[in-house]
Amino acid sequence: MTGYAFLAETADSYSRLIAADSGGDIVSVICSDPERQPWDVALLGVFARRIGGARRVLDVGCGPGQMTALLAGLGVDAFGIDLAPGMVERARRDHPELRFEVGSMLDLDLPDASVDGILACYSIIHVPHELRPQVFAEFFRVLAPGGGLMLIFQVGDEVSRRTEAFGMPIAIDWYRQQPADLAELLRSAGFELSFQGVRAPENGEKTPHGYLIAVRPAAA
Ligand SMILES: C[S@@+](CC[C@H](N)C(=O)[O-])C[C@H]1O[C@@H](n2cnc3c(N)ncnc32)[C@H](O)[C@@H]1O
Repeated sequence: MTGYAFLAETADSYSRLIAADSGGDIVSVICSDPERQPWDVALLGVFARRIGGARRVLDVGCGPGQMTALLAGLGVDAFGIDLAPGMVERARRDHPELRFEVGSMLDLDLPDASVDGILACYSIIHVPHELRPQVFAEFFRVLAPGGGLMLIFQVGDEVSRRTEAFGMPIAIDWYRQQPADLAELLRSAGFELSFQGVRAPENGEKTPHGYLIAVRPAAA
């Protein structure tokens, strides 16, 4: 794994948060809750249909694997990678039929052109803005030509560092995203944009949420 200090801090913080979770009290706050995020679920369905059945789809920054399981339920061959060993342990426990590995989106341990789809659901939000080109180059590398990428994220310009959550010391940086910036970075990485959307905050959320679907062009 690349040696940025923030990666170790993020991994350690998320592992400690998930270890302290009791019956979903922490997970439902720090991770996606499909019951409370119907837009995410609906657009994930569109994405899975765009990819097509039985194709390999990576859920990167998968957390406890609930969106990976949702993807698998939509018929694709989904697997998850997460920076935090504690998250991977929880995902394996909750979804023993699926495959989960520890890894970083900055440096994926996957061969070139080896997946047909990538979902990054509220996970690029922990990557410093200046490292997004590196992440999108990695996504482009591991996607097969014709493969699709879906990004889900909180919209805005705010950058913040959380040092406490649920009474525990943590060190996690959050970066809001502007869809237009992401679209430009994806185009620069070689992707073609196929969908861009923003929805209003729901259920007490603080910001609008954004969705981008992009495709690695099929080989000429
Ligand atoms: C807000 S949680 C979202 C988890 C899940 N995708 C969901 O929607 O519930 C962010 C997750 O991204 C992971 N993450 C953060 N930086 C990462 C990186 N560089 N590579 C892989 N995973 C990362 C964290 O460990 C954490 O599990």
